Parts: sequence; C-alpha cells; structure tokens
Amino acid sequence: MALWGGRFTQAADARFKLLNDSLRFDYRFARQDIIGSIAWSKALVTVSVLTEQEQTNLEVALNALLAEVDANPTAMIDSDAEDIHSWVEQQLIAKVGDLGKKLHTGRSRNDQVATDLRLWCKAQINELIGHLTLLQQALVLTAESQQHVVMPGYTHLQRAQPITFAHWCLAYVEMLERDTSRLQDALNRMDYSPLGSGALAGTAYPMDRDQLANWLGFKGATRNSLDSVASRDHVLELLSTASISMIHLSRFAEDMIFFNSGEAGFIALSDRVTSGSSLMPQKKNPDALELIRGKCGRVQGALSGLMMTLKGLPLAYNKDMQEDKEGLFDALETWSDCLQMATLVLEDIRLNESRCEQAASQGYANATELADYLVAKGIPFREAHHIVGEAVVGAIAKGKALEALSLEELKAFSSVIEDDVYPILSLQSCLEKRSAKGGVSDKQMNNAILAAKTRLGLE
Ligand code: ARG
Repeated sequence: MALWGGRFTQAADARFKLLNDSLRFDYRFARQDIIGSIAWSKALVTVSVLTEQEQTNLEVALNALLAEVDANPTAMIDSDAEDIHSWVEQQLIAKVGDLGKKLHTGRSRNDQVATDLRLWCKAQINELIGHLTLLQQALVLTAESQQHVVMPGYTHLQRAQPITFAHWCLAYVEMLERDTSRLQDALNRMDYSPLGSGALAGTAYPMDRDQLANWLGFKGATRNSLDSVASRDHVLELLSTASISMIHLSRFAEDMIFFNSGEAGFIALSDRVTSGSSLMPQKKNPDALELIRGKCGRVQGALSGLMMTLKGLPLAYNKDMQEDKEGLFDALETWSDCLQMATLVLEDIRLNESRCEQAASQGYANATELADYLVAKGIPFREAHHIVGEAVVGAIAKGKALEALSLEELKAFSSVIEDDVYPILSLQSCLEKRSAKGGVSDKQMNNAILAAKTRLGLE
C-alpha cells in the first residue's frame, strides 16, 4: 500500500507506477534509511511523541530489519513498495504493528531521502579514498622498484626529454592525491544532516537537530530547511570529482596502451588483463585499459545529466530529484571498478628496460642539453637553440644521434663545441641536470619516492 492513499480514489496506473517507483535502485539506501529511522525515533522521545518503551521496541525491530538487510541486501527489490522509505516503514509495521505507524511523525520523505543520500555518499567517499590510496601505493612501489629505468618523456607525443618510469608513476600519484583531497573537501561540505527539515519548512516538533545529527555521525545539522531538501550540489561535487579522477585514469590508461604498443614496446601487460582477437591469432589487446579510458564517458555523462536535471528546478523538492540516484550509483561504481582495475594492471606489468632506454636515447631527446652546453659557453639561448636545430637536421641527414657525431662534425655547427660535450649528451647527464624540486634527477626522485611513501603510510 502506498504511503499516501487517503487523498486518492483511483489506483495508480501500472505504467505510472513503473515510472514513479524508485525501489529498484534506491534499495541501496536500506541501511541508511534504517539507521536514520532509529535516530529519528530517539528524537521523537525528546519531543514526547514516543515513550522510552515505544522507542526501544521500534529500535529492536529496526535493528532486526537491519540484520535481515545486511544478510540479503537486495531481497526487497521484488516488493511493490514505491521506494526504500516506504519499504522500511512497511516492514516495521509488519514487525511491531500500529506502533510502527507513529515513526513518520514530523518527518517527510524529503528530509529522509536527503539524509539517506548524504549518509550513503559519506560511506562511499571513505571506500573510494581507500581505492585511490591502493592505486597510489601501487604506483609508488612500482616507482621504487623501477627507479633506474630511463624512458623518453613526450610532448605532442614526440620524444622530448628523457625521464624515468618512476617519474611517470609519481605524476599519477600527484593527480590521485588531488582527487583524494577533492573527495575530502566534498565530504566536509556534505557532513551536515538535513533530518528534521520536514517537507520543506522544518519539522513541527521542537527537537535538538544538532544532537540528532550527531547521533548519525554528522558534524552538525543543516541551517536552512528549504536548502536541505532542495539541494543536491554535494552530489554534483562528488560526480565532478569522479569525472576529474576518471580523466586521470583515462590518461593513465592511454599512456599505458601506448607503452604496450608494438611501436613503443616499453611494457608488456599480463594475460590476466588482456584479451585476444577472434580472427587474428597474434593479438593481445589491452582491453582493461581501453575500458578504463572508455568508461570515462559515462561518468562525465552522469555529471552533465544531473546538472541538467537540477537546472531551473524551483525550490524546494521536486520529483525530478529522484533522478539524482541512478547516474550517481553508476558513476561511483564505475570509478571504483576502474581504480581497482588500474591497480591490477599496474601490479602485473613487465617493463622492457632496454627498449625504454633505447627509445630514450633516440629521437634527439638530448638536444636541449646541447643548447644548454652552448649557453654555458656564452652563446645566448635563442641562438643556441637555432644552432642545435641545425645540428639535429644534420644528424638526421647522417642517420646518427647527436652524441654519435664526431667533434669535427659538431664543430661545423659551432666552433665553441669541444670534447667535454660528450658526457653532457649522455642520458644520465640529462637526468642529473634536472635537480631542482620536482625534477627527474636521482636525488629528487629518491626524495619524491620517500615523501610519497610517507604520505601514503608505506614508510
Ligand atoms: N523516491 C524519492 C526520491 O528519491 C523520495 C522522496 C519522495 N518525496 C516525495 N515528496 N515524493 O527523491
């Protein structure tokens, strides 16, 4: 039976009921709805709506229901209850009879759903931070074990300057760390309880909403009842954090797909995260990474979708807002799956060190070094840049690397070049010169790895 039958003389059309009911997705809030209901029953004692004994009876029944839900979290899906709030109330009444009908006093599904949603989001944030941390830890440990592997760094997907594989790993550690801090920011802002806001104007029972909020683990109660039931910007924040992080994961995936390509050959992905072709027997495709890259789209879609849904909604609650859930559920599940998959892919890679180093030493990645060398000999950088450009053209014509040109050949481009140029052109020297904070020198890398390990609780 619907919660609101009294006003109606006709039953809902089956097609409308199908469109309107949300139990098939908001069943995920069962735990939050029950915990919120227990807290609400305690608040009702403080305003003399329930006796202590009645509250105890309700709490016992709600706890029993919670145990049933924990044992079988999807059992309610086939019920014809409109939503999870109706289902919990139905179950409660089935357990304790008429007493259960008192629970909704002073409460609305509008503040109830807003509370359930925040509690659910808070729990998700903690889990997501856990998955972000595991991926960061895997990246740092990979960086540490592969610290000596030199590879080309790219701009415009052209070999630019040599870096280390570890440096690449730590770049993603940084991005994921900002994702984590965005989640923490979002959590801080959403950590206020809407319960006791009623339908929109506030509950008519003069309870201590801050105490109620504390019982539920919130920092405090929200300040304005209209805002409390009408706002979903905390969901937008969560979805935009998910979207940004999925962009990071998508770029990580794209880098790895390229590293794994026959053309680059820097890494080999394990059989556990690749698949074959039905036609071409030689193929081993990087599907896990392609899916991470591909799934980025649906997460951005959930964010745009909810933005469009909320835009132009009049205050306070409107049924449009029921649309806040499915995209959120899908987006957070997708994000969580992709974080875990990225960790798995990374933990299983094999690095081809000699191939990485070979690629780093080709492609004139040390041209900047030669320019800096000329600068040290007194030539202004812009001029040095031009000279080295010509030297690269000359070296390409001879099919040689810069360091493979003889001194005589090099002197043809600038007479200041001497024998001391060769050590400067070595890969190791290219790395070592990047010794300012954030650079790729050995010392900086050691510091960066140690600092990251400490931040991530690995030290
Ligand atoms: N299922 C609804 C939602 O998800 C719950 C709130 C219903 N409130 C209402 N006034 N109809 O938004």
